[in-house]
Amino acid sequence: MSDSSKFTVTAALPYANGPIHIGHLAGVYIPGDIFARYKRNIGDDVLYVCGSDEHGVPITIKAKKNGIEPQDVIDKYHTMIQNSFLEFGISLDIYSRTSNQEHHEVAKEFFKKLLDDNKFIEKTTEEYYDEKEKTFLADRYIKGTCPICGYEDAYGDQCEKCGASLEPSELKNPQSALSGGKLTKKETSHWYLPLDRHEDWLKDWIIKENGIRWKSNVVGQCKSWIDSGLKARAVTRDLDWGVKLPIEDQKGKVLYVWFDAPIGYISATKIWAKKNNKNWESYWKDSNTKLVHFIGKDNIVFHCIIFPAMLKSYGDFILPDNVPANEFLNLEGRKISTSKNWAVWLHKYLKDFPNQQDVLRYVLCINAPENKDNDFTWLDFQARNNNELVAILGNFINRVFVLCHKYWDGKVPGKNNLEQIDEDIILKIKSTPNVIGDSIDNYKFRFALQTLMDLARSGNKYLADTEPWKLFKQSDKKARTETILNISIHITASLSILCEPFMPFTAQKLKNMLNIKSSKWSCASDINQIPAGHQLNSPKLLFSRIEDEQIENQINKLKQS
Ligand code: MF3
Ligand code: ZN
Repeated sequence: MSDSSKFTVTAALPYANGPIHIGHLAGVYIPGDIFARYKRNIGDDVLYVCGSDEHGVPITIKAKKNGIEPQDVIDKYHTMIQNSFLEFGISLDIYSRTSNQEHHEVAKEFFKKLLDDNKFIEKTTEEYYDEKEKTFLADRYIKGTCPICGYEDAYGDQCEKCGASLEPSELKNPQSALSGGKLTKKETSHWYLPLDRHEDWLKDWIIKENGIRWKSNVVGQCKSWIDSGLKARAVTRDLDWGVKLPIEDQKGKVLYVWFDAPIGYISATKIWAKKNNKNWESYWKDSNTKLVHFIGKDNIVFHCIIFPAMLKSYGDFILPDNVPANEFLNLEGRKISTSKNWAVWLHKYLKDFPNQQDVLRYVLCINAPENKDNDFTWLDFQARNNNELVAILGNFINRVFVLCHKYWDGKVPGKNNLEQIDEDIILKIKSTPNVIGDSIDNYKFRFALQTLMDLARSGNKYLADTEPWKLFKQSDKKARTETILNISIHITASLSILCEPFMPFTAQKLKNMLNIKSSKWSCASDINQIPAGHQLNSPKLLFSRIEDEQIENQINKLKQS
């Protein structure tokens, strides 16, 4: 029954055209990290992969804008993004990149096999061409109005508002995103993935098989896409930045970025497996392995329809077990925008709030855009820190440590006779790990974290109700005081284990304070895990108040952008 499972957990490859902001973290990398950390903790075999998405028009546009080479852009941001993930404790097993040689080989092989197996169709069409720049205008080189939702800033390959995957010809009022060039049309031929051939099984698989289990926002988007009829999608481009086609006379073409990028999950796995003496295929081809894609809602069609169609066409790959896509996080009521500099950048956050990664991780999880778009505000950030992390979690733990050091020189007192109030809180200690675990299993990270905070809240109430500091002064109540603090220490130990997926830095500090090694999930419900007489270390400050001034400073910075 409790055999361990294998999980291949992927987090969307960020474009290496800018640093990472809180929207990325809240929507993709934190939920993925919580899931991966929890699954590892309970003994599952987890591979958490990500890497930089270094092809496609976002990169070349950025390079052109700054008068530098695409390679310079990706080198700069790949390093920055990788550092941000490290600093924020995103526990990736590998952070790869799609510009590396191995990835190019894997992507080419993938394309070649589909080509040889007749999984593509070749079509000649007229495409937008920029005479001045001597380049075809594909994807993000073209902007216009989305034919589906009317959003005016939609790209040639995708509307970021409604998530639709588009062709440039579908855009209303198409305009070149490159400056100046006139829009003309020119003939070119490309390979297309005929999604229409995949419609039947995709429909059964998404709607019938997973319609209930997957998140409704994900299923809803797929359904409306399938209902409007799946069309063939070009998987090649007339560009020179990207993975060159593995066809002799087609060296001027590259793979479409959305064809090569998800293969990045596979190439990353191969690189990791080679380094660690593992069998990469067991993470992608074993029917018992669960593939889970963490993404934002603008990536849904690519991960639920196009990539699965690619995997199916190839043959022996598993399909995602789940795609728990999140909605968007706004910032102070407005859409986060890299180009408008309306964002909270991770590297900048750490300069202003050094060593406070867990505060941001906490706020972004408790307020994650799980089922609808959500808003990050600096005032909410401050309130969550001061009223929840400091006043509830930090306060409880601090009181427990202070009392233990004051009365017993930091040696954990033993447990004596139990009263009803003790039995009640013990029940809570025993049930909480399962509630949190089940919630994480079901991708309900907000509820999982609320449940963790409820345990700390119960701890505070337990102390307030039993008032051990008063009892200690009564000579006949010494035994009672010992019991209360023994139980309180076990709540603290439980918190140290259960908070690890959400706040790994705090978990580590807490374990050092408690002077315990074990962090196994099952220990979190064990109210005898710490023997009487166990020596605690001295308490450290876990969270500190954030003052109005700091918040005003952040709001001013935003206003200036
Ligand atoms: N770079 C894309 C984005 O930021 C995501 C790519 S995910 C992958 O929207 F599956 F293609 F890797
Ligand atoms: Zn749209």
